[in-house]
Amino acid sequence: MLAFLVPASACTDRMTPSDDRFGRGGELIAMSGGEGGARYACVTCHGARGEGNGFDAPRLAGLPAGYLQKQMEDFAAGLRPHALMMDVAQFLDSDERVLVSNHYAGLPPAGLPPATTEQAAAGTAALYVRACQSCHGAEGVGTAQAPPLNGQPAFYLAQQLQDWQQSKRRNDGDHAMLKAAQQLEAAEVRQLSLYLSAIPARPASPAR
Ligand code: HEC
Ligand code: HEC
Repeated sequence: MLAFLVPASACTDRMTPSDDRFGRGGELIAMSGGEGGARYACVTCHGARGEGNGFDAPRLAGLPAGYLQKQMEDFAAGLRPHALMMDVAQFLDSDERVLVSNHYAGLPPAGLPPATTEQAAAGTAALYVRACQSCHGAEGVGTAQAPPLNGQPAFYLAQQLQDWQQSKRRNDGDHAMLKAAQQLEAAEVRQLSLYLSAIPARPASPAR
């Protein structure tokens, strides 16, 4: 348990509870890794601005707080099996998972430029509109139902789609993603991942 989670009465001289809960507490976990120590510091893999590592660790900056929190709970419970992130999540308690999720949700959306100059094949945008846009929004900015995909590393996106195809990732309640992924051929997984990673991270338009 980190010191900032003690009852408000114990630290009235220095900080207000609301500052702690939604501000520095989450940032502290991101920098320090909480109980797990420095090797689990989020910034090591997810970048100083939450932009990801351009490879297997996704951007977290600007993703919805509820989505991030659900992923942390799913990792901790083993519903989303990933040896490393299961360890990271299990070293945090549920209050700390909320704090760190709120921290990353509050950062401006930021990703890295695509790792390759290879462009997605013609027709990929149309495939996206047909198969994915109803849930993930125009250009992958995300909706209330599904997370943003724009500005995520192509390797990461392809990995997730393959994990669903093999039922390794199975934490989507109604199997929407299982069905969407299983309809894709290997070449389509690759093309959609290239296409989405090349769209810069940006906030969803408030009008949507
Ligand atoms: C040693 C590297 C490493 C560290 C440290 C690390 N992560 Fe991760 N994280 C990853 C990788 C790799 C993935 C992709 C997992 C997968 O493929 O399912 C990931 C995935 C995630 C996801 C899923 C995001 C999404 O779009 O679904 C969240 C949330 C997350 N990490 C949060 C954190 C937080 C919070 C911390 C610090 C407390 C942290 N991570 C520390 C490597 C790391
Ligand atoms: C019926 C709605 C729906 C459709 C259609 C859909 N998705 Fe999803 N997708 C979701 C939901 C919901 C999640 C979040 C699941 C969870 O909570 O982990 C998700 C998550 C994802 C993720 C993981 C994001 C991350 O940060 O880890 C990827 C990648 C993805 N979808 C790609 C696609 C692609 C590509 C298509 C089109 C072929 C598609 N989705 C179609 C609902 C949908």
